[in-house]
Amino acid sequence: MQARLKGKVALVTGGAQGIGRAICERFAAEGATIGLLDIKGENAEQAARSLRDQGAQAVAYAGDVAQRATFENAVQDLERQFGRFDILVNNAIWVRYGPIDAITPETLARMTGTGFHSVVWGTQVGAAAMARSGGGSIVNIASAAGFLGIPSGMVYCGVKAGVLGLTRSAAVDLGPQGIRVNAICPGSVVTEGVRINVNPDMEAKRIARTPLGRLGQVGDIAAAASFLASDDSSFVTGESLLVDGGVTHALL
Ligand SMILES: NC(=O)c1ccc[n+]([C@@H]2O[C@H](COP(=O)([O-])OP(=O)(O)OC[C@H]3O[C@@H](n4cnc5c(N)ncnc54)[C@H](O)[C@@H]3O)[C@@H](O)[C@H]2O)c1
Repeated sequence: MQARLKGKVALVTGGAQGIGRAICERFAAEGATIGLLDIKGENAEQAARSLRDQGAQAVAYAGDVAQRATFENAVQDLERQFGRFDILVNNAIWVRYGPIDAITPETLARMTGTGFHSVVWGTQVGAAAMARSGGGSIVNIASAAGFLGIPSGMVYCGVKAGVLGLTRSAAVDLGPQGIRVNAICPGSVVTEGVRINVNPDMEAKRIARTPLGRLGQVGDIAAAASFLASDDSSFVTGESLLVDGGVTHALL
């Protein structure tokens, strides 16, 4: 594996499991120092320990990404310990699908808090620290749902479409400071979180509709995140990259 991220300091939200954890592992394998932030503090610590066992530098932070203070705490600590801050991956989310009339104030607040407010606060706090380090890269994990109308997914589709808009505007504002902002739009990737919302029957239908004939793996998303975090994408900003096996383009 290339050491494309050597010397870089990264914070990954929702890093304790699923796509976030795979991104932490990939970034560590490419030489980055990892801050791993998750509301499941014990799981975050376990994941960070496993990275340290593999020889990486990794620190776990417990906190709720919906709160600005969570980012301030983690980013300030990374800057204090490692002297810089280069990469932020906004990945954490809490999701429930359901019919429009079943949306409650609680589920709306939790989905927008974890999926949208978090990206705003992460961008605000992370970009200020990146500017102090001479530039950086923000990678927002959006979704193919940001382009689609998924049944019973009004809030999720809205949150992810919002992240795509936010990504474009932040790229325009932050480009002059050498900070790039891009989004990844995964298709279906089997993770702990997805198992709550998608049953095996739905999975089989999605595979049948996917030109590349399989669901995504967490490593597919981590590889794209690594490209966008690294200098290999140094002239790419404001972009939304579908990593979905072609399913979004397949009108079958
Ligand atoms: N898995 C897929 O099929 C898929 C498809 C498209 C987009 N995505 C996106 O990829 C990202 C990761 O998805 P996943 O399937 O790995 O999710 P997951 O549910 O498996 O993991 C999410 C992680 O976020 C953490 N988290 C939840 N609420 C939090 C909070 N308030 N503060 C801090 N951490 C919190 C959880 O503890 C968990 O570790 C999400 O943004 C999701 O929308 C996933």
